[in-house]
Amino acid sequence: MPMQKGLAALRVVPKALRLLRDAGASHLYVVFALTILQGLLPPAMGYFGKLIVDHLASGRGATAGLWALVGAEGLLAVALAVAFQLSNIYQAVLRERLWQMLSIQVCQHASQLDLDFFEVPQNYDALTKANRELGFRPMMMVLNLVTALQQTISVAGFVLVILAFQPLLVVAILIALVPAALAARDSGHITFTSYDVSTADGRRAAYFDGLMMSDGAAKELRLFDLAPWLLAQRQQYAVRVIKRRLRAAWVTGKSFVTAAAVSAGAQYLALAFVAYQAATGRITLGDFTLLAAALVAVRHNLSLALANLGELLENSLFFSDLDRFFDFSPKIRPPATPRPLPSSEEYQFVFENVGFTYTGASRPVFESLSFELRGGEATALVGVNGAGKTTIVKLLTRLYDPQQGRILLNGVDIREFPLEQYRAIFGVILQDFVRYHLTARENILVAKVSANPDDRRLEEAARLAKADSVIKSLPMGWGTMLGRQFDEQGQALSGGQWQRIALARALYRDAPVLILDEPTAGLDAEAEAELFLAYRELTRGKTSLLITHRLNTVRMADRILVLEGGKIVEDGSHQELLRKGGRYYELFTAQASTYGAEVTKP
Ligand SMILES: Nc1ncnc2c1ncn2[C@@H]1O[C@H](COP(=O)(O)OP(=O)(O)OP(=O)(O)O)[C@@H](O)[C@H]1O
Ligand SMILES: [Mg+2]
Repeated sequence: MPMQKGLAALRVVPKALRLLRDAGASHLYVVFALTILQGLLPPAMGYFGKLIVDHLASGRGATAGLWALVGAEGLLAVALAVAFQLSNIYQAVLRERLWQMLSIQVCQHASQLDLDFFEVPQNYDALTKANRELGFRPMMMVLNLVTALQQTISVAGFVLVILAFQPLLVVAILIALVPAALAARDSGHITFTSYDVSTADGRRAAYFDGLMMSDGAAKELRLFDLAPWLLAQRQQYAVRVIKRRLRAAWVTGKSFVTAAAVSAGAQYLALAFVAYQAATGRITLGDFTLLAAALVAVRHNLSLALANLGELLENSLFFSDLDRFFDFSPKIRPPATPRPLPSSEEYQFVFENVGFTYTGASRPVFESLSFELRGGEATALVGVNGAGKTTIVKLLTRLYDPQQGRILLNGVDIREFPLEQYRAIFGVILQDFVRYHLTARENILVAKVSANPDDRRLEEAARLAKADSVIKSLPMGWGTMLGRQFDEQGQALSGGQWQRIALARALYRDAPVLILDEPTAGLDAEAEAELFLAYRELTRGKTSLLITHRLNTVRMADRILVLEGGKIVEDGSHQELLRKGGRYYELFTAQASTYGAEVTKP
């Protein structure tokens, strides 16, 4: 039922007003005062106009009375112009404030949502829409509200004038405006819905646009001569979006055309009636000019007010999207009565029959996974692609919570600790770490923004991660911008160089638990060898977990876990596992043979 939905949207207006008040109460009140003034001035001017015409028609000549009337009319005109400009300024401030306020709220909320949120396409849509529309919907709304209010006041003023002279005319005018009111009521909803269903297609089209415009994909695009194909893909989705919008524009346009014809016709019928009365001496010439002006003004303002209300509906429906987005609340929360984190230096973790399935995934990654990370030990985790190694890291750091079983830290379910404090015990380098377009220094400091920068630790982390040589080679050392998005002087780093920066980031946290997910994938042989010689030093006194496919480097670990089929299938030192001749032995020999090395069971 579009009409009912259109009306329902109107109920959002008080909410919009509340938001505007929060954004800047004093500005809002000033805008309202100026708006009311702008609404009242035109009917008042119309009335003075009538007095002037009557004066002229009476043949009294250029008396002081005439000049008083003209002067008053002039003052009103100046006041109207000033009010208009002032109102524009205050509206601009209000719009900026509202935009700021909402942007901050959306960013804050988005950054607190569970990762789960991003795995459901509809959620992504909600966020994309909220984000895309934030820039203009609130601003349009301010304008719609203010204009509609001002026009309504003007209409009311002119209607009063007409009522005073020809009450019946008012009824005729109002009836003639019914089609316009109906059109305005439906159009907002129709237009908005067309945008609504277009989001998924629009997002796809925008994705392809993004690929063609991003530096990230530029290389492959050229190597594969991919652009024509991407363009065709983009069009496929874009055309659907455009078709839907045009259809909506046509449907709403049609009803506005009818409405406009009806009300224009009605206005001129009314004018004919008034002209007849003036011609037959029933009303004065001044009355005629006033009524004629009032008829024009009522139709004009009323149709504008209705159009504005229609747009306001359209723009305010945006709030239901915003609400839908704000309704997603993080499920991974700190408990009501959190336990203090254990103060011990040794952190030991136990996975107890952990079952976990990603939202929307058809199969579980783990059904009943159990293992232990011993406190103060360097543990390595190996397994084929897709075995679930990174998922273990995500569960351990509570980016996700398991659906079954428990993860214990020193005997206590990790869900019982305050979330932020719990996450603070980890220094992590993720497989898909972020390459921030920030300076080299900031790229490492981001790991611990809660504390003041510690330059000694920064140097130490860079040294351990072998990032110091990278930073020395940069033209402005630590202050060099990484990436060239914002700074012509910015430096592009190689994959391995980035990896060293990311490792330094994890180490800078100096956290008691160190997790390295594929920290050497991009490193050259020498850097990797050096890193693993330093591995003992990196992990001294810490509980650590190293995930890597380079099996000759996992020897440094105290203990190696082999993950397969959602279970830990082997567990022991390098020597023990080789001796056992099981899965680890197979993986290791397969890899060693590619180097031409012989492996014999010790
Ligand atoms: N965000 C996600 N949503 C749904 N499924 C996922 C998600 N991330 C990973 N998976 C699936 O979970 C399984 C385990 O993935 P995971 O990333 O943990 O593997 P991995 O052992 O780290 O592999 P690799 O060696 O390639 O890094 C895979 O089958 C993968 O397809
Ligand atoms: Mg992984």
